[in-house]
Amino acid sequence: MPTVYLNGRFVPLEQATVSVLDRGFNFADGVYEIIPVFSGRAFRLSEHLKRLQNSLAGISLSLDYDGHKWQSLLDELLNLNQVTEDSSIYIQVTRGAGERNHFFQSGYNPTVFIMCKPLSGVDFSMGVSAILHEDIRWKYCHIKSVALLPNVLLKQYARDKDGSHEAILSKDGYITEGAASNVFIVADNTVRTPPKSNRLLPGITRDLTVELIGESEYQCLEVPVTENELLQADEIWITSSTLGIAPVVRLDGRPVSGGKPGLAWRDVNKLYQAFKTAAGRQ
Ligand code: PDD
Repeated sequence: MPTVYLNGRFVPLEQATVSVLDRGFNFADGVYEIIPVFSGRAFRLSEHLKRLQNSLAGISLSLDYDGHKWQSLLDELLNLNQVTEDSSIYIQVTRGAGERNHFFQSGYNPTVFIMCKPLSGVDFSMGVSAILHEDIRWKYCHIKSVALLPNVLLKQYARDKDGSHEAILSKDGYITEGAASNVFIVADNTVRTPPKSNRLLPGITRDLTVELIGESEYQCLEVPVTENELLQADEIWITSSTLGIAPVVRLDGRPVSGGKPGLAWRDVNKLYQAFKTAAGRQ
């Protein structure tokens, strides 16, 4: 039975319960983070904590946990669960329980929940399938909100349609991101990814990928990507903390880059894997 953290206590998962009046349950009034753990250490922790802080600020939720507190809670959680394999940490913060009312009550007590679990172990390096779908979400996609019903429905639709792993989303003819990932395309040896905006989550893996491409022979442009550019791309990649950088080898049933991972992906993924290994040794 895994040990989890809930509101100041480490408890077995089955004993971690929250009120039915928790605003996370009633209104999806909360935010979350997923932090990968490689070689027993939280990867890009300060970047994830910064984004959590931005998400909290984005929904006007104040929480008095500083970086040291998060670090010691996560260390303790990894320790109690004897985490040695590659894992992910899930942090959820909601506005807590109170009388059901759209208005925030003053003096609310946030709910803070943390758990960890091993990464799926699925090898994405052979490539994944995706579909293209209209982006049906709201206009604050830069906030990592727990209101994930559109994302859940989109991913399930992708799976039910043709066994795809991801839905790549398009709004007004422009690619935003995946239902649970960011998107990159390669054309003419140049890598492109949509610029950060309220239409997409500022992915931590996205930022690292942009950084790593800067050290490679390729150029990376953070520019709008049209649906047509996606459909004609030499390569498509999706990135997330749980996937890393995964090549998309089929889009809507049609092969991408000849149905196998492309050369640019191979080069950039090598840099990403080396970066991960080096971070684990520090
Ligand atoms: N999701 N965009 C969306 C909508 C996401 O849900 C995610 C990650 C990303 C990639 O962000 P990052 O590189 O920081 O993981 C982009 C996580 C993995 C999830 O919800 O499970």
